[in-house]
Amino acid sequence: MQSKKLIIGNWKMNPLTAKEAEKLFSVVVKEVSVIKKTEIVICPPYIYLEKLKKIRTSKIKLGVQDAFGGDVGAFTGEVSADMLDNFGVRYTILGHSERRSMGESNADINKKIKSALTSGLSVILCVGENTRDQDHGYFNFVKTQLEECLVGVSKNLVSKIIIAYEPVWAISTTVDRKDATAADSLEMSIFIKKVLSDKFGGEVSKIRIIYGGSVNTKDAEDFLKNGGVDGLLVGRVSLDAKKFTEIIKICETLNK
Ligand code: PGA
Repeated sequence: MQSKKLIIGNWKMNPLTAKEAEKLFSVVVKEVSVIKKTEIVICPPYIYLEKLKKIRTSKIKLGVQDAFGGDVGAFTGEVSADMLDNFGVRYTILGHSERRSMGESNADINKKIKSALTSGLSVILCVGENTRDQDHGYFNFVKTQLEECLVGVSKNLVSKIIIAYEPVWAISTTVDRKDATAADSLEMSIFIKKVLSDKFGGEVSKIRIIYGGSVNTKDAEDFLKNGGVDGLLVGRVSLDAKKFTEIIKICETLNK
């Protein structure tokens, strides 16, 4: 496991105005000025990047929530990984379940991953089953996601890959959602490492695995301590500056 833990805020399609985005970001910047051992990434909507880049901080890196799987050209509505890299973005979430539910396939995500890695971005690849079945078919589901999304990815680039295990049934926006436990996270993290080590061998130690799915100030410590993960992907709670920074501080205290 790598020593520096990672806390990522996924703002999704929030907030509604640039003013609110600046305020939220500024409060987090102020609160994390003392943080030394935790890597912090915030992924806002593209439209706010320009403004947030101007708010000076060495503690928070900017990420995005998607990046196109191709270069320049006639692709209406898309933003390429090269453009994002040129702009100063360092991370992109790819394969989030909310994008998968809009029709994105593992093959689409694979293209995006390759393009992002070639451009120099770090990739936060989201995987996770929609439901849990008694026959444990969800392990195979996640295995297929990992294998198909990472087809053809070179061993040399694995240090740029972060796997976010996000069981869809635990995400805050899922109707009738259920709480996942640190034990659920731990067993899947072990399984993900096994799948990745079959593919990448010893290089697997360079891949960080994080957990996401309704993480809050009450369960963050348990996931970090007992969930077998190197960090957290926080959605809804990352829109609350106070709670988000509390999670970062919990992580910082646990970092050795
Ligand atoms: P949540 O979102 O923390 O609101 O469940 C996590 C995610 O979807 O990335």
